[in-house]
Amino acid sequence: MPDSSHLPPPSSLADLPFAHVLPHTAAISAAGRLSIGGCDVRDLAERFGTPLYVFDEADFRATCREFRQAFESRWPKVTVAYAAKAFLCRRLARIIADEGLGMDVVSGGELAAARAGGMPAANLYFHGNNKLPAELREALAGPGIGRVMVDNFYELETLEAIAAEAGVRQPILLRVSPNVDPHTHAKTTTGVLDSKFGFAIATGDAERAVKLGMEAKHLDLRGLHVHLGSPIFEVEPYEEANAVMCGFAAQMGDTHGFEFKEYSPGGGFALAYNREQHAPPIAAYAERFVSTLRKGLEDHRLPEPALHIEPGRALVGRSMVAVYTVGARKEIPGLRTFVSVDGGMADNIRPAIYGSKYEAIAVDRPLAAPEETITLAGKYCESGDILIKDAVVPRFQPGELVGLPASGAYNLAMSSNYNMATRPPVVAVRDGQARLMVRRETIDDLMARDVL
Ligand code: LLP
Repeated sequence: MPDSSHLPPPSSLADLPFAHVLPHTAAISAAGRLSIGGCDVRDLAERFGTPLYVFDEADFRATCREFRQAFESRWPKVTVAYAAKAFLCRRLARIIADEGLGMDVVSGGELAAARAGGMPAANLYFHGNNKLPAELREALAGPGIGRVMVDNFYELETLEAIAAEAGVRQPILLRVSPNVDPHTHAKTTTGVLDSKFGFAIATGDAERAVKLGMEAKHLDLRGLHVHLGSPIFEVEPYEEANAVMCGFAAQMGDTHGFEFKEYSPGGGFALAYNREQHAPPIAAYAERFVSTLRKGLEDHRLPEPALHIEPGRALVGRSMVAVYTVGARKEIPGLRTFVSVDGGMADNIRPAIYGSKYEAIAVDRPLAAPEETITLAGKYCESGDILIKDAVVPRFQPGELVGLPASGAYNLAMSSNYNMATRPPVVAVRDGQARLMVRRETIDDLMARDVL
């Protein structure tokens, strides 16, 4: 039996040991079940089917405002740009534009969805280590996008030619690799020397790029960008990066007359996924970040640059709960009990890739006391398709609904059609109303690309 079995059963959602990973509007419905955004989750599952991703619009909007407030109250000129790779659909782009945030995109697809959702071009920032010439042309066409974060020499050259062709002077930032370790998963660490991203300061590439960027006639070099990795549960790596970047900017000013007008420290702000994790509050990141940046600037007598902050996970992660229906049960006495659900690694590959640990909530009886430790498995054909190893839960019955909170960031964005799975829908809930944001993929959708 789990350790928590001797504890009294929770009497409200706030008593759950993982209450802090639930979206803000999570509550108990009149029927005693989990509700989000004023909608009973079983009702949603019956209407839209499972697996289902429930998006708490009020939670998301509140987090957008929290980010803006945390940074805008501490720095004179800030843009908070949502990192669209965490999750994007046109309606989300519309909400983000409505909340006054910008958006960071990394592909022609994200660029198209952002534009179609009504994001003003000027608030779009284009990232990536191998942007295709066609994508860069698209970014500069029509109302050109706000900034291109140039990653390498090939891109500097290509973009200069494309901007010349388009007859524009494109504002850019250079992505610099400061060699600061953010102490996170190796697969999501970027700001170290051994990384495919950015111009390394250590090799002299960053200095050469500054010189070339300043000389390029059709590029307007505004400043520098770094992204250390993600998720970063400590504030110190940002502090370290600020010191390195201010030193580098000052040196480039002295040697080449470079002006540090804009600075983007990237994203990576952490999100708690389970009872053991606690992310620093956004205001704590902002406070430490701003105070150490001020110090770095003062140390080198640099003026204050405009800031671009790029959160993805911390903005959208908590706003979505994945909902599954329980099916098969397999007991291996003395070893393990598997309880399988109707989704898995096709909609959430994160446990398989990063060993991410989620919590499970019994949607139909959220306050039920935990009774056993099980492994919550997906339905796909490989042993690595596990959603939660060692989940401490009530005894789930077939047909019962299980929710996995903190499923908003990178689950659907990295989802696949493995086993010809059809990808789940996203339903936005707010004030008791449910609205389909992304419909469920159908077998016809799968066949549509398959040319017989
Ligand atoms: N800015 C840049 C340049 C980035 O590369 C990223 C994430 C972000 C901002 C946003 O980072 P966030 O605030 O979301 O942590 N698939 C992985 C995460 C990969 C992150 C890639 N870059 C995962 O599921 O954890």
